[in-house]
Amino acid sequence: MDKLLVHGNGSLRGTINISGSKNASLPILAATLLSEEASIVRRVPDVSDTNYMLQILRALGAEVERSSGTVRVEPATVSPEAPYDLVRKMRASICVMGPLLTRVGRAKISLPGGCVIGDRPVDLHVKAMQGLGASVEMEGGDIILTAPKGLVGAEIDMQGKHGPTVLGTDNLMMAATLARGTTIIESAASEPEVVDLANFLIGMGARIEGAGTRRIVIEGVNELTAVEHTVIPDRIEAGTFMVAGAMAGEGITLRRVCRDHLGAAHDKLIEAGHLVSFSDDGSEVSVSPGASPRGCDIITAPYPGFPTDMQAQFTAMFVTTPGISVVEDKIFPQRFMHCSEMKRMGADITVDGGRAVIRGVDILSAAPVMASDLRASAALVLAALRARGTTEINRLYHIDRGYEHIDEKLLQLGGTVERVPA
Ligand code: EPU
Repeated sequence: MDKLLVHGNGSLRGTINISGSKNASLPILAATLLSEEASIVRRVPDVSDTNYMLQILRALGAEVERSSGTVRVEPATVSPEAPYDLVRKMRASICVMGPLLTRVGRAKISLPGGCVIGDRPVDLHVKAMQGLGASVEMEGGDIILTAPKGLVGAEIDMQGKHGPTVLGTDNLMMAATLARGTTIIESAASEPEVVDLANFLIGMGARIEGAGTRRIVIEGVNELTAVEHTVIPDRIEAGTFMVAGAMAGEGITLRRVCRDHLGAAHDKLIEAGHLVSFSDDGSEVSVSPGASPRGCDIITAPYPGFPTDMQAQFTAMFVTTPGISVVEDKIFPQRFMHCSEMKRMGADITVDGGRAVIRGVDILSAAPVMASDLRASAALVLAALRARGTTEINRLYHIDRGYEHIDEKLLQLGGTVERVPA
């Protein structure tokens, strides 16, 4: 188990490439199960979550080859049972449910357990499969879904208590591609990762309209075929490095980004007084700290609102930004574990009822801290870049779930970081 030593108070400069999106890759890899033929997915980031997904695909019977960012999956035959030992490691393994059920008429998947960012139910996923005609049973911690005569298209509203569900929309969209008739998804998630999955499925021969809006219409087809696809850039990794540039940069440039997906991060950095400029084609962004940064407020919301996956990183930025900032997470109201660790570094934060009130301080001081989940860990790295002394970030495996070679990218930008065995 590694830890990261971050020697703070230096400055970042230079250029790095942003990786392919983790959260687009996971459902796309699951979607390869929909065809018997071999699909090829490019720019899959080398992070442990994509590795878990590939292990699950292998355990389900698919042949999988990976060569740097390119993955080939050939699921000529598949078993409908996803093994608990692999599924329990990653909540996103729930997205093999739709493909298995629609392709083989059965899916047995362990119910994902608790998660540090809050209670993460799967009721909407199950409701979606039932809406397409599946029977559902619970047995020994597993959900068993069956549809021996196949799924049938239906109109299904996916609105949840905290808004639309991203992976729930993905699961339903995947299941509906091979269902008989038309499926209409109301209150669909419209995140760019959902659109990327839809484009992958359309490449396989699926008939889908409206991805990226709140209403997606899918006409079932009899079979899907192989496809080659390149995953979109990771907007959360890009946003994280944009914050690094604003907090500790002397002008950093990120290549291979998609401007259209970065509106919320861009607008908040500008509001906080920083300098952000995109290249004409929107594929590169440069960020530098502004002369008079100021605190501001954030409320997370479904896309195109401010992403919950970016709130921890912006919280880290506000910790050393003059003024008072208020960060409210309406999607995962319990997602504030990073705050108690940052307080150990001298941050002034009060967390109450899904909201953090941050009073900017001049100086943070290094301390040993504990990563608790993926984005919280990224926030600790950002805080450490601004701290006096060497911060030791333990439980680095959290960050390795979703940031490809973060230590190497920071080194490339002139950061002083070391990955060492714990
Ligand atoms: N929800 C339900 N019932 C369900 C499913 C979700 O009530 O059946 C609730 C959740 O508890 C939450 C809200 O709906 O309050 C939205 O959750 P969503 O289902 O959209 O989350 P997800 O699809 O499981 C994806 C990302 C998360 C990201 C969320 C929200 C992947 C692999 N994961 O999760 O990413 O935070 O959407 O945008 O795409 C991360 O990358 O660090 C991460 C956690």
